[in-house]
Amino acid sequence: MNFELSEEHLMIQKAARDFAQNELKPGVIERDENQKFPVDQVREMGSLGFLGMMVDPTYGGGGMDTISYVLAMEEISKVDASAAVIMSVNNSLVCWGLEEYGTEEQKQKYLIPLAKGNILGAFCLSEPEAGSDATSQHTTATDAGDHYVLNGTKNWITNGSTASVYLVMAQTDAHKGHKGINTLIVERGMPGFTVGPKENKLGIRGSDTHSLMFTDVKVPKSNRIGDDGFGFRFAMKTLMGGRIGIASQALGIASGAYELALNYSRERKAFGKPISEHQAIQFKLADMATQIESARLLCLKAAWLKDQNQEYSQASSIAKLYASQVAMDTTVEAVQIHGGYGYVKDFHVERLMRDAKITQIYEGTSEVQKIVISRAILGK
Ligand code: CAA
Repeated sequence: MNFELSEEHLMIQKAARDFAQNELKPGVIERDENQKFPVDQVREMGSLGFLGMMVDPTYGGGGMDTISYVLAMEEISKVDASAAVIMSVNNSLVCWGLEEYGTEEQKQKYLIPLAKGNILGAFCLSEPEAGSDATSQHTTATDAGDHYVLNGTKNWITNGSTASVYLVMAQTDAHKGHKGINTLIVERGMPGFTVGPKENKLGIRGSDTHSLMFTDVKVPKSNRIGDDGFGFRFAMKTLMGGRIGIASQALGIASGAYELALNYSRERKAFGKPISEHQAIQFKLADMATQIESARLLCLKAAWLKDQNQEYSQASSIAKLYASQVAMDTTVEAVQIHGGYGYVKDFHVERLMRDAKITQIYEGTSEVQKIVISRAILGK
């Protein structure tokens, strides 16, 4: 076993850290307050190769491994969890799925601009009545010969108003249950496709989350991903990698909060000495450091398994389940260490605490991760 990162990994980690500190940090509080999408910063992420990290260079990507992706996600999430989810969805839910299962024509048309960061993608599985129970799709894709007719509503879609390409899961044959679901590539601007109002969220307020409405949208059959009926398995397989991305986001939120709390504890004095000299604070920092290191190892292990083409579904669910809990615990403690300052917006930690919660919800709630893990343990 080797726990050392390669030179290349360290370079990618540094590039992400520099970008986050120099480009994302200024203005992050204001973007959160005003729910402002980081337009310029996302464009820059594309130029730096952070939006198609794992895509083969033939298709405009960086050709990097999943470990590099985890390292970059941690650094970016430490500073701006909104930018991180934009990046995560584009990388692991959209680019990865298209590269793995798309046709050559789909890759040429959609994957290349997505991987280069010229456009953004969105992954549209959730519905008003289909969150955790994802097989229960009410959106329909009726077979009409050379095209499908798409009708329905999708909810809580990341990159909802900023994406150009949407991977939409819809039921074609209800009698076949989940085996009758297809994933279709829908372009922004297709007649009948409208974007609903922006959600006013607790956290990750810089990311744009919208509902989407489809009314008789004609989608060519050539825009279906995989064989007829592959759509649900496509979603599940894609989410396996997506969960590594969200686990890394949670890890970054936790480590960002921890670093802020550590620095603050060295500066802030109480009862005649820095609060870091008080055991009550030291024990909090020790717990945070231990949890964060454990979460980091779980993220890297899941990434390593994926890079080795080994089974990684259980590992990605374990990483997400644990890292998201660590994000919650650590950010709450970081606010506590900051005391009154932690409760106001100038000090970053209250935002990280709000951002942390979503990591226990999207790309499969913590309860869904427990379903996946327990089924793997019990061989079901
Ligand atoms: N790989 C391949 N196939 C898989 C799979 C995987 N990892 N997981 C499940 N499947 C297959 C199963 O084998 C089964 O197929 P067969 O019947 O042919 O064997 C089929 O999918 C249905 O699976 P289940 O019977 O296990 O389905 P279920 O109804 O019991 O639900 C679930 C399983 C794990 C709860 C699933 O519904 C799930 O993951 N729900 C959560 C959905 C989710 O993560 N949503 C996130 C939305 S996207 C998002 O948040 C993005 C964003 O914007 C940030």
